[in-house]
Order: sequence, then C-alpha cells, then structure tokens
Amino acid sequence: MRNTFNIQTFGCQMNEHDSEVIAGMLCEKGFAQVAERKDADVAIINTCSVRDNADKRFFGTLGQLKKRKMHDPEFTVCVCGCMMQQQHVIDTIKSKYPWVDIIFGTHNIHQFPQLLDNVLKEKKKQIEVWPDGAEIVEGLPAKRLHKTKALVNIMFGCNNFCTYCIVPYTRGRERSRKPEDIVNEVKKLVEDGVKEIMLLGQNVNSYKGEGDVDFADLIYMLNQVDGLERIRFMTSHPKDLSDKLIQAFVECDKLCKNIHLPVQSGSSRILKEMNRKYDKEKYLSLVKMLKDAVPGITMSTDIIVGFPGETEEDFLETLDLVEKVRYDSAFTFLYSIRKGTPAEKYENQIPEDVKHERFNRLVDLVNSISAEKNAAYIGKVEKVLVEGPSKTNSKTYTGRTDGFKLVNFIGNPDMVGKIVDVRITEGKTFSLEGEVI
Ligand code: SAH
Ligand code: SF4
Ligand code: F3S
Repeated sequence: MRNTFNIQTFGCQMNEHDSEVIAGMLCEKGFAQVAERKDADVAIINTCSVRDNADKRFFGTLGQLKKRKMHDPEFTVCVCGCMMQQQHVIDTIKSKYPWVDIIFGTHNIHQFPQLLDNVLKEKKKQIEVWPDGAEIVEGLPAKRLHKTKALVNIMFGCNNFCTYCIVPYTRGRERSRKPEDIVNEVKKLVEDGVKEIMLLGQNVNSYKGEGDVDFADLIYMLNQVDGLERIRFMTSHPKDLSDKLIQAFVECDKLCKNIHLPVQSGSSRILKEMNRKYDKEKYLSLVKMLKDAVPGITMSTDIIVGFPGETEEDFLETLDLVEKVRYDSAFTFLYSIRKGTPAEKYENQIPEDVKHERFNRLVDLVNSISAEKNAAYIGKVEKVLVEGPSKTNSKTYTGRTDGFKLVNFIGNPDMVGKIVDVRITEGKTFSLEGEVI
C-alpha cells in the first residue's frame, strides 16, 4: 500500500491550520505523514495568494514535480489553498501543469479524502472548488504541529475588502463558529495537553457567534477553561477594536498581553485609498488606549510599502507612526498587485526601485526599535512557555514570553510544555537570551 503523504504550506496561520486538518483526515484514513516530499506517495501543496512571490514559488514547485511524476505515474499531486479559489490559476494549472491530479479549494477541505479515494481507485483527475463557504463543517480532526499550543479557527472569511487584498476573494464572506463548538474544542485540546491557544480569523473582532456572543464575550468564556494557560488571537482590525476587548485584556488573566494590530500605512490619505476605515489619528488613539489600560503590552503590526500613489510624504507619515508606536516587531511588505482587486486598476503604481528604497528605510527603523525594546528586557524575569530544543543546538531550548517574544536558554526535555521563569540576559533584534531561574 502506498500511503505516505507530505504537505507543503505557503500561507498564513489559517493556511497552516488547514494543513493540520488535511493531515488529521489522512491519518484517520491510515496514511502516514513524512517530512520530505521525496519520500511521499501523495504530495499536497497548500498555496497562498496574498503576494506575487508566493504565487511564483508555487509554480516553481509544481514545475519540479513533473520529473517525479514521469518516473512514477502513481505519485499523486494535490494542490489546494487560496490560489485555487481563482479561476485563472486553475486554468493555468490545467494547461501548463497537467500532472496535477487533484485541485480543491479553501471551502471544501473536508472533501479531500473522498477526492483522493477517487483518484486512487478510478485514476481520474479531480477538480472541485467551491465559490464560497457553505455551512461550517465541525468535528474535523487535526494533526497538530505543536503539542502544547494549538491554532483554533473561530471564524472564516473576510468582509472588509481592503483594496489591495485578495483574501476576501479566496476565503469568502465572514462566517463565525458557534461559541459552544469553540469552547468544546478548546476543552478537548486542553485534555490533550494544550496550554496555549491562538484564536484565528481574518478579523476576529467581527466574530458574531450564536446568541449575540461577540469576540470579547468569547474571550471571557475561554478564560474560564480550567487548565488552559494562555489565549492569543490573530488578527484584529483596528476599525473594530472595541473598548470591551481592551477591558478583556485587563480582566482576563489568560489573555496574553500582546496584540498584532496591522496598520498598513501611517498616511491617512493612503489608508482611505486602502479602504481601511480608520486614519492615523484614530489608530494612534487606539494604541494609546491599549498602552494606558494594559501597561507593558507588546505590539506588532503589518505595513505595506509602495501602495499605488504613495508619495515620499505619505511614506514619512508611516515612519512617523512607527516611531510613535514603537512596535516590538513589524512585518513589512512590498505592495504586490493582485489580480481582481480594486488597487490593481489604480494608476501611479510605484516603481520597484522606489518601493525597495522605502522598504529598506522602514526595515532599518523597525529593527532598531525592536532591538532597543528587547534590550530593555535585560535583567527582567519572564514567564516562558517552553516549546522545545532549538533546531541548531540541542542544549538550547526556545519558548515564548506572555508578550510573544522568542527566548533562547539552556534547558532540558522536562521543561517542554511547562511555563518556566527565565531571567533575560541579552536582547537581540528578533529574540531574547536568558537563563532559567
Ligand atoms: N486579515 C489580516 C491580514 C491578512 S493578510 C488583517 O487585515 O490584518 C496579511 C498581510 O499581508 C496584511 O496585513 C498586509 O499587510 C499584507 N498584504 C495583503 N495584501 C497585500 C498585497 N497585495 N501586497 C502586499 N502586502 C499585502
Ligand atoms: Fe485582507 Fe483587509 Fe480582510 Fe485583512 S481585513 S484579510 S487585509 S481584506
Ligand atoms: Fe495567504 Fe490565503 Fe492566508 S492568501 S495569507 S493563505 S488567507
């Protein structure tokens, strides 16, 4: 029996969690996951479409699989994820990459085992992509990447239509899971040894569960789950960040004092063009409220450089905002034209060299602030949830602080999955060094 599979994941945490579900379903069918694609009978590629480089890497990977398929016709190639929700991608695969056996989308992951059966039994290609999400399918298994922390979807889709973004087209409209389904899933995870959960949604703040349960209510409910130690979430949109959620940071001991709050730009004019529905002042006032209510809260963000029409003045507003907020870390992106989005049609796209030059200035600023903020931790004692040995050195262990900072320290296998006190000895740009006390 040829029953090994490998999954390569290109996208965000939601994509990663979809891969965990795909792996869970295949393991239930008696398949075994392998770390290297060369050892797998079934290759699955879970794609992302958020920027052009993810698209390019995917087609590069598909190209490489042709040879293997020629030598081994029984080798099964499956592709899924956000790229498959776009007809032009499916057309390209059909015409240029005919060795692909299965194409499915983001809304029908639960059908994958059946599609795979069909290919293995009938030797017939399977293409099944749904245009939008139907009812949420509950109870799918997941083979988690980590033992002690878990990704938990609370909602699917996005209704915001930021003008640069493909996600509303690839993930459909917003649908929220029932609060009791989420709470029950979390209780089961805790029974299984999970200490920390990351609640997932493109905009968790617009969660609307049965019985008018909003996102903050959900946090309060989850804060009651015995044995759970930490709650995180990703991502909340500044336009919907409620006072009630800020209060939840104050009142819920399990909610980590850390927030990822994507700003995208510091220029109010560009934010309007992006359809973000807040301006620079509003964003800065939210940050102030958060910092006042939750002393020591750590913050991260996403920033796009080179959105169509961005002037040097607009860009300076972004640098100014970064200096005012002083993020602990920031993901910075070069604007990438996405087919089918409003901004694709905008005039004055920014030349690549200008984008890169601004990008480098932004990264320098972001990194110097990160390094300064991390250096300020020296001498402090932090609670670290230990994840495991580092990839490069078996004596060095890694874990995260409540504020989501990565810490390296000398540890041992007994510490894995526990929260230990670590005194910080060094602050680097992207991590901290410390010693267990
Ligand atoms: N739902 C989340 C973000 C999902 S996409 C939110 O609204 O915050 C993750 C990040 O990718 C975005 O925050 C944005 O910074 C970036 N991104 C999205 N589309 C992009 C594009 N066309 N070009 C460059 N970066 C983009
Ligand atoms: Fe994209 Fe905006 Fe939705 Fe985030 S909120 S997924 S950036 S459209
Ligand atoms: Fe990419 Fe889809 Fe996530 S486009 S960022 S994998 S929602």
